[in-house]
Amino acid sequence: MQSVWLLLVAAVAVTGPLVLNGSFAPGVGECKTPWKDCGSTGLKINNVIVQDCCSSPCKVKLGSDTKFSFTFTPNQDYTYLNQSVCGELATACIKFPNETFGYMCHCPGCTLEPPCPFKANRMENVTVEVPLSASFPKDLEVFAQWRITDPDNKRVGCFEVPVETVD
Ligand SMILES: *[C@@H]1O[C@H](CO)[C@@H](O)[C@H](O)[C@H]1NC(C)=O
Ligand SMILES: *[C@@H]1O[C@H](CO)[C@@H](O)[C@H](O)[C@H]1NC(C)=O
Ligand SMILES: *[C@@H]1O[C@H](CO)[C@@H](O)[C@H](O)[C@H]1NC(C)=O
Ligand SMILES: *[C@@H]1O[C@H](CO)[C@@H](O)[C@H](O)[C@H]1NC(C)=O
Repeated sequence: MQSVWLLLVAAVAVTGPLVLNGSFAPGVGECKTPWKDCGSTGLKINNVIVQDCCSSPCKVKLGSDTKFSFTFTPNQDYTYLNQSVCGELATACIKFPNETFGYMCHCPGCTLEPPCPFKANRMENVTVEVPLSASFPKDLEVFAQWRITDPDNKRVGCFEVPVETVD
């Protein structure tokens, strides 16, 4: 009897904080991914969330996927938008090579609700799993710059997130 009770107490002690975190943590705003706008003109970036990233720089694990998501509100209608990501090094922004990037509406590994076209003043949420090859250099600290372009290839949105590649 006593050992059953002890087990119950132990179970409550273990699950207690988890329940607390699960129900309260997202609402209190403790976790805020560091990001800044870098010259959006045709839309407004509302928020950026990098999986498990609450402080600068965001640790991105080599050999796995990291979930990036952002919300934005277009200033005008767009039949479609494209996205690309590059890493800001001393002299240039080196493009992140993956077919995940291109169309923002139906790219592989990318979700968007609802899909293109984009309507003025309607907020959208884009979630992308970014695959990071295990052969990338480790401990590299860069600003990952996310660029959004219109069908004329004009840049209409931009945000950046400090990242560090880790094992
Ligand atoms: C609850 O959240 C805090 C702060 O984010 C963290 O340090 C702690 O490990 C979490 N507890 C559990 C059980 O997940
Ligand atoms: C986008 O939607 C996903 C799934 O509902 C959610 O987890 C994520 O937090 C949202 N992103 C932003 C920036 O609000
Ligand atoms: C892009 O990412 C996908 C998913 O991880 C991977 O299968 C594919 O090989 C990558 N493509 C390039 C060109 O790196
Ligand atoms: C948008 O991305 C798609 C897929 O990568 C590409 O075929 C198309 O040319 C891009 N559009 C512009 C304007 O760059």
